[in-house]
Amino acid sequence: ASAYPFFGAHQAGITTPAQDRLHFAAFDVSSTLDRTGLIELLTEWTEAAARLTQGLEVAEGGATGGSDYAPPVDTGEALGLPASGLTITFGFGPGLFTDASGADRFGLAARRPAALEPLPRFQGDALQPERSGGDLCIQACADDPQVAVHAIRNLSRIAFGRASLRWSQLGFGRTSSTSTSQTTPRNLFGFKDGTANLKAEDGSLLDEQVWVQASDSPAWLAGGSYLVARRIRMIIENWDRVQLGEQEMLVGRSKGEGAPLSGGTEFSEPDFEATGVADKPLIDTNAHVRLAHHSSNGGARMLRRGYNFVDGNDELGRLDAGLFFLSFQRTPQQFIDVQTSLAADGLNEYLKHVGSAIFAVPGGVREGEFVGQALF
Ligand code: HEM
Repeated sequence: ASAYPFFGAHQAGITTPAQDRLHFAAFDVSSTLDRTGLIELLTEWTEAAARLTQGLEVAEGGATGGSDYAPPVDTGEALGLPASGLTITFGFGPGLFTDASGADRFGLAARRPAALEPLPRFQGDALQPERSGGDLCIQACADDPQVAVHAIRNLSRIAFGRASLRWSQLGFGRTSSTSTSQTTPRNLFGFKDGTANLKAEDGSLLDEQVWVQASDSPAWLAGGSYLVARRIRMIIENWDRVQLGEQEMLVGRSKGEGAPLSGGTEFSEPDFEATGVADKPLIDTNAHVRLAHHSSNGGARMLRRGYNFVDGNDELGRLDAGLFFLSFQRTPQQFIDVQTSLAADGLNEYLKHVGSAIFAVPGGVREGEFVGQALF
């Protein structure tokens, strides 16, 4: 699609077929911002996002239509480019409700979702504070990286003096399908990623696993979701020395077809009971897909929407590459349960989680409202 509607029952950018490119940004609100200022910022962000996602400049006047004596309102690099499937998804971090000193700056503390807490420490975490957390986030996805970057740049510019960039991440090559209409892409380990993902067509499973329900608490978050972001470095130089059979054993699927090692084709259900020679399970006990599967996690699933990244290289000459993992779930507990069970994942030898953040993603925006309005 060339343009997705910005307004709707849910925010776009969750069950929207995953676009090819990502620019994700986390912000800290300024210490001088008050409740009125926060509402103004969200209102301006909403107006800008409604325009940008339709392929329009950020505001009337744009890059060239204003006064010669003022900086243009739009930065201009997306002039002439179509909407490119741009979606802009906003989220609220724990710090928006109570800041580090425990102060209730915006009068929101009583409305904080009880589950919106910084994630617990997981085994193997090597988190860097400068790549973690944030009071607000914006996920911009598009099929053209210039369009996604233009969106984040102009929204950051609008926030000037009110919220500043804390960290941001570019991503390419979606690592998930979120619609059955999409072919499954590959991550930087070379494996198909997104095969068993929750998808837009999953109907009532989405209500059960992804969308916060009206019967859940708090009511203002109904129709929304919880977003977890993890910057996962992949030690690909080591991975590339691992034998094919071992790579497949660690994942639990074949590399070419992406079929479960218990047999069948890509979309066959894995059979975790199936055994081969000497009664060895065909899908290893520490295989990623076994440990991540809902049958190992009390039924917990999630909608994954991550991207590959390569951000140059480190001082040892290794690519700073990996998976920028993004998942949407009805409660953070679903992620916590799966990530806890992944402590035994054989893949961990080749992974390092260096960034982490959690956000409450409010429900969809109605025309004339601002994003998250029900919170105020
Ligand atoms: C499945 C790779 C991290 C949750 C898969 C699959 C691959 C894969 C190749 C099989 C294909 C598919 O169904 O998508 C990776 C890599 C990771 C990573 C390379 C790190 C860089 C994570 C994390 C979580 C997660 C952090 C959640 C805490 C899942 C789930 C499935 C899955 C829920 C589907 C399992 C099923 O139902 O069969 N992953 N993954 N993965 N992964 Fe990951």
